[in-house]
Amino acid sequence: MSEHVIAKAHAKVNLHLGVGQVREDGYHELVTVFQSLSLCDVVRISRADAMGAGCVEKLVTDAPGVPEDNSNLAWKAAEALARRSAEQVARVVIELQKGIPVAGGMAGGSADAAATLRAMNATLQRPLSEAVLLEIAAELGSDVPFTLLGETRVGTGRGEALTPLMSRGQYHWALAFSKQGLATPDVFAKLDTMERQPHLSYESVAQALVCADAHALADALHNDLQAAALSLRPDLRKVISMGERAGALRGIVSGSGPTCAFLCADAESAQEVAAELGVYYRTATATGPAPGAELLEGTSWSI
Ligand code: C5P
Repeated sequence: MSEHVIAKAHAKVNLHLGVGQVREDGYHELVTVFQSLSLCDVVRISRADAMGAGCVEKLVTDAPGVPEDNSNLAWKAAEALARRSAEQVARVVIELQKGIPVAGGMAGGSADAAATLRAMNATLQRPLSEAVLLEIAAELGSDVPFTLLGETRVGTGRGEALTPLMSRGQYHWALAFSKQGLATPDVFAKLDTMERQPHLSYESVAQALVCADAHALADALHNDLQAAALSLRPDLRKVISMGERAGALRGIVSGSGPTCAFLCADAESAQEVAAELGVYYRTATATGPAPGAELLEGTSWSI
């Protein structure tokens, strides 16, 4: 038995992202299809050395630009779980090893929060139920419930109301990251200034997934936020056309961007696209669907 728990936090891509009206609470009504990717962060929770106030002693990361204080969503997740638990929660140190780009439109911060919920829950003598974890996740952020569950799901409401979607086959992605992140609220705010028709039907994405047809999925990919992200970051157009010229079936902005995600016919093609784009950008390959936040096998907490 050890005194640490390690959890994987998987990134997501939106295969379809339809943005409807702004609600009274300022959020937009979404109809989205999430797919979890193999690309992940690693969250390590260990017992703090010293006693003190609050359930988190400190949070450390290996990535610049990630807050190491209680504004980090992973820190908030630990505190939220401690508030909901009937038992005294151990005081912990949180370490985040980032593989998912920061402010990249791939739900990296949300995934860290979801993995923290899973890891902290594993330290409890009486773990909280999945339903309670999902409630806490939804309070933390719109993408946190999906990153907790992973796989392929339709998200409605703010994106937090989830239903599973049948998906066959494995999909191969090349990803191109940007040095400069994009703030999600800025992208939604930009979209609100644009003349547009919301694209809410995900029918063709669902059809392609049932048929395990990567070519049909490539044709069906859609992101209502893409126009806003491209308007804020016109350089991304070049990234998308470069990836498509390198052999990707289709390139899109991932979520609110600026990461560009390229659906490829197979693993080899994804490697080629990542290698060609890799001359100019930091790139990675990934497959989907992947699981949600999950404990790494062999790690456990001694109570
Ligand atoms: O829920 P979360 O904190 O991740 O959302 C970040 C921001 O993204 C919100 O403050 C809002 O500006 C925008 N957003 C939105 N509509 C959604 C989800 C997010 O406007 N459905």
